[in-house]
Amino acid sequence: VNMKPSWLVIWAVTLVLHSVTAVYNITSQTVTYEESGKNLSDIPSNLFQNITKLSLKNNKITLKDTDKEILRSFINLIELYLNENLITVLYNNSFCNLTKLVILDISNNHINTVHKAAFAGLKQLSVLNLSCNAITQLDSDAFTSLESLMVLNLQHNFLKFFHIKSSFILIKIVLAGNPWTCSCELLDLQLWLNASNVTMENENNTVCTFPNTMEKFSIKMAAIQPADCKTERASLENTVTPAIKLKSSALLRDLTTDNTTGNNGTRAELPLLGKSWIFLAGVLGFVLSTTLLIFTAIKCPTWYRYLISYSHRRLEENDSEMFEQEFSADVSSFPTESGTNDEDPIETLEEIHAFAPEEDGFIEDKYIDSYVTEE
Ligand SMILES: *[C@@H]1O[C@H](CO)[C@@H](O)[C@H](O)[C@H]1NC(C)=O
Ligand SMILES: *[C@@H]1O[C@H](CO)[C@@H](O)[C@H](O)[C@H]1NC(C)=O
Ligand SMILES: *[C@@H]1O[C@H](CO)[C@@H](O)[C@H](O)[C@H]1NC(C)=O
Ligand SMILES: *[C@@H]1O[C@H](CO)[C@@H](O)[C@H](O)[C@H]1NC(C)=O
Ligand SMILES: *[C@@H]1O[C@H](CO)[C@@H](O)[C@H](O)[C@H]1NC(C)=O
Ligand SMILES: *[C@@H]1O[C@H](CO)[C@@H](O)[C@H](O)[C@H]1NC(C)=O
Ligand SMILES: *[C@@H]1O[C@H](CO)[C@@H](O)[C@H](O)[C@H]1NC(C)=O
Ligand SMILES: *[C@@H]1O[C@H](CO)[C@@H](O)[C@H](O)[C@H]1NC(C)=O
Ligand SMILES: *[C@@H]1O[C@H](CO)[C@@H](O)[C@H](O)[C@H]1NC(C)=O
Ligand SMILES: *[C@@H]1O[C@H](CO)[C@@H](O)[C@H](O)[C@H]1NC(C)=O
Ligand SMILES: *[C@@H]1O[C@H](CO)[C@@H](O)[C@H](O)[C@H]1NC(C)=O
Repeated sequence: VNMKPSWLVIWAVTLVLHSVTAVYNITSQTVTYEESGKNLSDIPSNLFQNITKLSLKNNKITLKDTDKEILRSFINLIELYLNENLITVLYNNSFCNLTKLVILDISNNHINTVHKAAFAGLKQLSVLNLSCNAITQLDSDAFTSLESLMVLNLQHNFLKFFHIKSSFILIKIVLAGNPWTCSCELLDLQLWLNASNVTMENENNTVCTFPNTMEKFSIKMAAIQPADCKTERASLENTVTPAIKLKSSALLRDLTTDNTTGNNGTRAELPLLGKSWIFLAGVLGFVLSTTLLIFTAIKCPTWYRYLISYSHRRLEENDSEMFEQEFSADVSSFPTESGTNDEDPIETLEEIHAFAPEEDGFIEDKYIDSYVTEE
């Protein structure tokens, strides 16, 4: 009974040795090309087009444009090993045309950036290994085009969060060895880990590194309560403008409804209400003040002159006060239309006092001067 495993091991070892020594190994179904540890800086261009397995492990490939061009021609490729190379960025469409690729290993490179459409076209890809790189930011959007993805290895990167944006289905995920920050930002990942059937490999070692209170807790177990996120955001709301308030309350609603709906990994995008609200208010304010100014200029030139000279003297004041003054000056001009010219300066003086009593020092100076000269 003990003999069987040892024979298996010997058979496996000889298999591995064979594939390492032979650069090409052509059987009826597979065409394998293996060139490891040769300091290659380019993907060889003289390979068979029907190649199915390409291993270029431990070279100096950076996956530049010419490399991508060459890769594109291997439309039968099923396995691609580019681990232990010098790739730093995965640009959009790095592997397009490889529609039959099932295994892609780009572990042990120096990848710090993965563009959103980097894996576009890999319809059959089932195993993706991105472990031992330097990825700091990533979300599930980068993988949603991978319809067949089952295993994703993100071990030993620099990820603090991993946002699950749309329905994302996996059989296995490896997340250990990242500096996970167990705050509200990690909540969607935790909800997804809990709700979906994904197996997290090495779960006991996939721990929070921040904050200190949650250090060494598994990211699946760490107590991130949606209620905590609520209070955290509520205290934030007291100090922010209404526009940001709107946005954060939408986020809050998003987070809390996730819990009640039993979350299946989907998340609605935030409404862009905040920005359009500010814009609308700005346009309205501008149009209103301009209209008032023009109206004043047409209807009563004298008051316009007063207003202009008034504005000149008050240059150092801020905009909202200017607006207030314009508005009060305009309102005050309505009753004067029926009145006589002589009464006007006094009446306006009183009106302005009524609207802005805290600024009387300034106003008195100006109007007393003009009143005196008119008399
Ligand atoms: C090619 O690979 C097959 C298994 O995939 C193996 O049995 C055969 O010995 C290999 N041939 C060479 C020349 O290495
Ligand atoms: C792949 O192409 C080479 C050279 O064109 C040929 O010798 C080999 O039989 C082909 N293998 C398969 C599986 O198509
Ligand atoms: C690869 O390059 C390094 C230094 O650049 C050198 O030491 C090593 O021998 C080279 N390896 C091969 C297989 O050429
Ligand atoms: C992409 O694949 C198609 C066939 O599916 C092929 O005709 C085309 O030449 C390939 N593109 C490149 C750049 O090799
Ligand atoms: C990559 O593709 C995504 C989605 O198709 C696009 O939004 C983004 O701008 C692209 N990035 C670059 C650098 O082209
Ligand atoms: C890459 O990740 C896959 C899936 O976790 C694993 O099976 C494989 O051994 C890894 N490859 C390397 C070189 O670590
Ligand atoms: C998890 O698996 C169970 C049984 O295998 C299945 O009924 C359920 O729909 C699965 N849930 C998800 C979110 O895939
Ligand atoms: C993970 O930790 C739990 C509780 O600490 C323990 O019951 C379980 O056996 C551990 N699993 C592994 C694979 O070490
Ligand atoms: C996920 O499940 C664990 C226990 O399995 C629990 O401690 C944790 O609070 C759950 N997280 C969420 C967000 O429901
Ligand atoms: C949120 O989820 C937790 C654990 O899944 C549950 O105990 C709690 O009652 C839920 N809260 C609401 C408001 O549904
Ligand atoms: C998952 O979310 C989608 C979109 O929000 C919804 O249509 C679907 O019913 C949800 N499925 C489950 C099992 O909750």
